[in-house]
Order: sequence, then structure tokens, then C-alpha cells
Amino acid sequence: MGGRETGGQSRANGAVIRPFGAVARVVPPTVVRSPTEPWSSRPPADGRVALVSGGNSGLGLQVVRLLAEQGMRVVLASRSVDRGRAALEWLGVHADRVAVRQLDITDPASVARLASWLDRRLGRCDVLVNNAAIPFDAASADLGVVQRILDTNLLGTWRLIQAIVPLMRTGGYGRIVNVSNSLGGVAATRPGLPAYRISKSGVYSLTRMLADELLGDGILVNACSPEPAYPVPGDSPQPAELSSWADTPVWLATLPDDGPTGGFYRGRNEIVW
Ligand SMILES: NC(=O)c1ccc[n+]([C@@H]2O[C@H](COP(=O)([O-])OP(=O)(O)OC[C@H]3O[C@@H](n4cnc5c(N)ncnc54)[C@H](OP(=O)(O)O)[C@@H]3O)[C@@H](O)[C@H]2O)c1
Repeated sequence: MGGRETGGQSRANGAVIRPFGAVARVVPPTVVRSPTEPWSSRPPADGRVALVSGGNSGLGLQVVRLLAEQGMRVVLASRSVDRGRAALEWLGVHADRVAVRQLDITDPASVARLASWLDRRLGRCDVLVNNAAIPFDAASADLGVVQRILDTNLLGTWRLIQAIVPLMRTGGYGRIVNVSNSLGGVAATRPGLPAYRISKSGVYSLTRMLADELLGDGILVNACSPEPAYPVPGDSPQPAELSSWADTPVWLATLPDDGPTGGFYRGRNEIVW
């Protein structure tokens, strides 16, 4: 399935689809930085702001590190602020470009709080990496579990995108990276892990839909699978392994303006869904 280039807007029956509504404000607000923000005294050259959900561990933490290394100011969003702060230690010299904020993507109030903080304090969010997810469910479907996983992996991702897109529109720039898994691909669908597969399949459908809807806003939306996967689900891979898995999401997070949108990538290669 080919990713599409930017340059138009999605239309249905002749009407432009604008699911996030009109941009309420075209002039960015005054940026008020608290003295406690780690980047307040030394804005990095690039100046872009990235938000990584589930940034306190695993792949998310690697993505935080690589984006900070590139000079971005990174918001490490973590369900638990304590776990987020603990992760800062691992970032070493890059920690001064990283701020920890609380985020539970299943909680609308938590999502709204973070979006409001970004707006008030930084007036922008240029990159969103939707990494947070519940990894795997059982072999057979328990609909209670299915509901919980869909609420996190699919609706939580969607909820966060809805909250952040207005900021991207204000800035006329955005890169949204939805971390998915090729296990959710229609062509690869097999029995087992039903909620996880369906949630990640939904994430890719969402990616395609949003890529069309956000064409013309300077916002590129892509999905990726950070494979090869862990040898055994639940294993803790070595940082070096995770670093190479983080390459594709970071590449998508830093695409040039004429980069692709609406694609699904693994190892920087577009794959058939
Ligand atoms: N592992 C693999 O083999 C593999 C393969 C392909 C794709 N992926 C995808 O890669 C991404 C990262 O996977 P990983 O293996 O690094 O997972 P992980 O170590 O389990 O990390 C998942 C992160 O998501 C957070 N999270 C879970 N529910 C949340 C919620 N409601 N709100 C906010 N944050 C929440 C977790 O926070 P807590 O620390 O609070 O639990 C954690 O930080 C996921 O999207 C996963 O589906 C993984």
C-alpha cells in the first residue's frame, strides 16, 4: 500500500473533511517558560518540540533519547511521573532537553492537561510519537480485556492525536508517528492476540484516514513497526537492540516536508499491510 505525498485535502461528496474543526487561533500564544523547565536557559538549535507517549521505558525511552540527541526539546510523557523521572537518569547528558509530564492516554482529563500545558508553556508541539500501548493479550478473546486494550492502543492514541493536532495546525507543521505492529496487518492476521492485533490494525486505519485529513496542514502521519520484535514477549531487550528498533520511528518523526504520509514502515521500508 503506497504512502501518499502531501498537497491536497481529503474530500467526501465534495466537502473538505476537517474532523478536528477549524484552527481557533492562528497567532501562537506568548511562550511562558517556568524556570524549572530543563530547557528554559538553553533552547536547542532546532527548537522543535516532540511528545513521546509511554516515554518512560522500552522503545519510547529510546525514541526520547534519539530525538533529544537531534536537538529537539522532548516531553517524556509517562503514566507515572516517578517512573518518568527515574528514566531521566538513563538519558545522561540528554536529560537537559527532556521534560517529564504525566499522561494516561485512557484518561481524557490527563490528555487535556498535557495539551494545555504544551500550549501555555511552549505554544507548540511539532512531533507526536504515539508509542504507549498495552503489549499483548491472551490467546483467546476476553471481551473485557479487548475493551481495555482497544481503549488504550486505539482510542488512547486517537484521543492524544485529537488533543495535539490543533497545536500542530497552529504551527503549520507536524509529524505524527503511530507505533504499530505488523501483527495487526490484514495480510498477516492469524489466530491469537486478538485484541492486540485488532487494536494495531485500527491504528493503521486511523493513520491512513488522518494522513488524508491532514494533507495541506503540513502534518505527515505514518505508522511503523519497530521490528524485529523481542524474541519472547515481555523480555527486556538490550539498549543497543532498542536503539536500532527506534530508528524507523525517529526517521518518520524527522521527515522532510516532502516526505511520505499515510504509509506503514518497518526498517524504513514501506510494507504491505
Ligand atoms: N515489544 C515488541 O516486540 C513490539 C513489537 C512491535 C511493536 N511494538 C510496539 O512498540 C510500542 C512500545 O512497546 P514496548 O515493547 O517498548 O512496550 P513497553 O516497554 O511495555 O512500554 C509501553 C509503554 O506504554 C505505556 N503505557 C501503557 N498504557 C498506557 C496508558 N494508558 N497511558 C500512557 N502510557 C501507557 C507504559 O507505561 P507504564 O510503564 O506505566 O506501564 C510504557 O511506558 C508499543 O506500541 C508496542 O505495541 C512492540
